[in-house]
Amino acid sequence: MSGLLEGKRLLITGVITDSSIAFHAAKVAQEQGAQVVLTGFGRLSLVERIAKRLPQPAPVVELDVQNQEQLDSLAERVREHVDGLDGVVHSIGFAPQSCLGAPFLDAPWKDVAVALEVSAYSFKSLATATLPLLGPGSSIVGLDFDARVAWPAYNWMGVAKAAFESTNRYLARELGPRKIRVNLVAAGPVRTMAAKSIPGFSELEDAWGTRAPLGWDVNDATPVAQSICALLSDWLPATTGSMVWVDGGVHAVGM
Ligand SMILES: NC(=O)c1ccc[n+]([C@@H]2O[C@H](COP(=O)([O-])OP(=O)(O)OC[C@H]3O[C@@H](n4cnc5c(N)ncnc54)[C@H](O)[C@@H]3O)[C@@H](O)[C@H]2O)c1
Repeated sequence: MSGLLEGKRLLITGVITDSSIAFHAAKVAQEQGAQVVLTGFGRLSLVERIAKRLPQPAPVVELDVQNQEQLDSLAERVREHVDGLDGVVHSIGFAPQSCLGAPFLDAPWKDVAVALEVSAYSFKSLATATLPLLGPGSSIVGLDFDARVAWPAYNWMGVAKAAFESTNRYLARELGPRKIRVNLVAAGPVRTMAAKSIPGFSELEDAWGTRAPLGWDVNDATPVAQSICALLSDWLPATTGSMVWVDGGVHAVGM
């Protein structure tokens, strides 16, 4: 039997450790027949080492979403490994310390601006940078944490995620005529480097498993990875501008 992503060429951002959601997405995608190219930010030799732990070692190209030169040359550098792309995964988030867990009312604009640029505006930056490689039928997927409500500790990252959700809808409008789909996976908490850096996030992690109708394991990124792969596949062909909750069902219940 052939895999769900047989023959698909994917660019996956956001691998930094083997607990990264992006690492699991790359793993499941390869298991489903995809060819994967990764992007790495900053600590490239570390990302290259992690990339070797995938079922098939994946090439890594450098990408800091705040670096316009790297964005401008991204398509050309990806083309050294694949002749085009069928899917792109945005798995990037960052906010300075003042924006997460610290008093919400104290975060200065210069820090909030960084959170918004890296965590929301970058969805547009990545989409435009990869557009020359994307054709009809391709799929762009981003990683969200449900921003319809205010959470403990998540603070300005929550505001950035709200902007990210809106960016998703506008990208869907812009890219729909080219038959490119743009969607988000709104994941429940997964214990990654980014999650561990949020003081007070453990409060959310602890509550999730008891609230989720299906239950929830913060140490298992595979359900999130599988759902990313479903959106990258040909099996949600009329879905764009959407947000798919992969949270054990927490978004649907009050208590
Ligand atoms: N872990 C969770 O609980 C959870 C839940 C829902 C959504 N998410 C989202 O999933 C995505 C991936 O996070 P993760 O939890 O796997 O953590 P992670 O720490 O493994 O990944 C975050 C990634 O962002 C990258 N990054 C930061 N600044 C960057 C920049 N300027 N340019 C390019 N890359 C940059 C880092 O290198 C890292 O690879 C994020 O968008 C996060 O908000 C995480």
